[in-house]
Amino acid sequence: MPSKPAGALRVVFVGDIFGTPGVKAAERLLPGFLRAAAADFCIINGENSEQGKGISPVTARALFDAGADVITGGNHTLFRDKGQELAERDVRVLRPANLPEGTPGRGWGIFDARAGCRVGVLNLVGRAMLPPTDDPFRVGKRLIEEMRAETPLIIVDFHAEATAEKLAFARWVDGLITAVIGTHTHVQTADEQVLDGGAAYMTDVGMTGSHAGVIGLKTEHALHRFLHPMAGNKSGGAEGDVRLSGAVVDAQAQTGRALAIHRFQLRLPEE
Ligand code: FE2
Repeated sequence: MPSKPAGALRVVFVGDIFGTPGVKAAERLLPGFLRAAAADFCIINGENSEQGKGISPVTARALFDAGADVITGGNHTLFRDKGQELAERDVRVLRPANLPEGTPGRGWGIFDARAGCRVGVLNLVGRAMLPPTDDPFRVGKRLIEEMRAETPLIIVDFHAEATAEKLAFARWVDGLITAVIGTHTHVQTADEQVLDGGAAYMTDVGMTGSHAGVIGLKTEHALHRFLHPMAGNKSGGAEGDVRLSGAVVDAQAQTGRALAIHRFQLRLPEE
């Protein structure tokens, strides 16, 4: 990891924590990584931290203890009652902002990083190949404009299936934000870049958990869904080849413009 440019604010973004292997990877690998990288702020997508679907107070606590300042989410954050309760009571646990009025929890917040630096975090969910929601483009831009009254440092977690939707959104708000980081597909992409207006972008930061199966699931359970699509879902998590996946964004603190983005994957040594 290149060292942090002088004066820059460094944000570490960790991709989708999947079940116990993902939580364990964060607990074992993240504290040392944050120290070595001289990180100022850490965002973790935790929507699949509880048994591969949803989040709970126990997994959220583990991720905060590992170094998260904020936990973002997606289509599964509110899957469990305890996830809904958590999102209601903890302002550091976000669910997508473009969900209908009356949905538990909140989709954005502004948080203290280091002295004098506040970071806005906005969570959105895409509409391609996902259940219908409010428009992430118009909702997102309106909220970004509100957040900019408080800070130019704004990181967006755009949780979506389609590459084009994520990149189109990033170009739509380039110049207004620090980064648009994609989550949800569980596969890390190699397209990290700083766009013309100063927004760091990456289609997907990838999954933190076992890479031995199919995007977190045991291979035979993932296969069952395709071979016997209407014969019930099995959802056991894969084991082995556990990795912490993410990206590091360096930004100019005064302007909120990104200076660089670097992706990383760290492997958890086998026990
Ligand atoms: Fe998801």
